[in-house]
Amino acid sequence: MAFYTESQWVDWVDQLADQDYVVVDNFLPEEHYKTLRSFFLTKLEENDFNKAGIGMAGEAIVNKAIRGDYTYWLDQTKDVELAYLFELLDSMKNDLNRFCYLSLSGYEFHLAHYPEGSFYKKHLDQFKERNNRIITFLLYLNEGWQTGDGGELKIYLETEERIIEPLGNRCILFKSDALPHEVLQTNVSRYSLTGWFTHLPSSLGYLLGSSV
Ligand code: OGA
Ligand code: NI
Repeated sequence: MAFYTESQWVDWVDQLADQDYVVVDNFLPEEHYKTLRSFFLTKLEENDFNKAGIGMAGEAIVNKAIRGDYTYWLDQTKDVELAYLFELLDSMKNDLNRFCYLSLSGYEFHLAHYPEGSFYKKHLDQFKERNNRIITFLLYLNEGWQTGDGGELKIYLETEERIIEPLGNRCILFKSDALPHEVLQTNVSRYSLTGWFTHLPSSLGYLLGSSV
């Protein structure tokens, strides 16, 4: 199944190359956007979110001053309601490899809930112990977001800063190692799907006999 056309990909990849990020509105077909959003609300109601960590060992104390979100990691084998999304992500991984000449081998995704008053300070998604995240993917699930609600994404380009509103069904892709960004304090509950397309560390790929 083709989710996006070749000309859409060419356009997105051009933007990624030129400015390190791309914004795509109305990313999912309405029906699947709704499925994802109600999945999010169900998980929230069931208390399935956990305090997000930083670094490898998830230290909750230092943490709150840096990021205040709660996450639910998606699991393709369990979250069967999201079959469409996983198919789409598989196909995106292949398209990114094809159009960006990457060798992505997988992805990891979580739902993120930023309660009122929370934020995520300026950071990069790729760092020393975590250098296999190549492309960051964000998809916002905030219905009726308006100015004053906060929780905007602020990105730091080489010569300027930009503010991106976390509007429902808006997707953002950027190079994980290249674009410093932050989540400004939100004044309402803020919902998103966040993930990373990854490649195996080359040593691991070697051990597994993979061709990365
Ligand atoms: C992250 C992140 C941005 C956002 O989870 O690393 O920067 O807009 N999220 O949710
Ligand atoms: Ni980030």
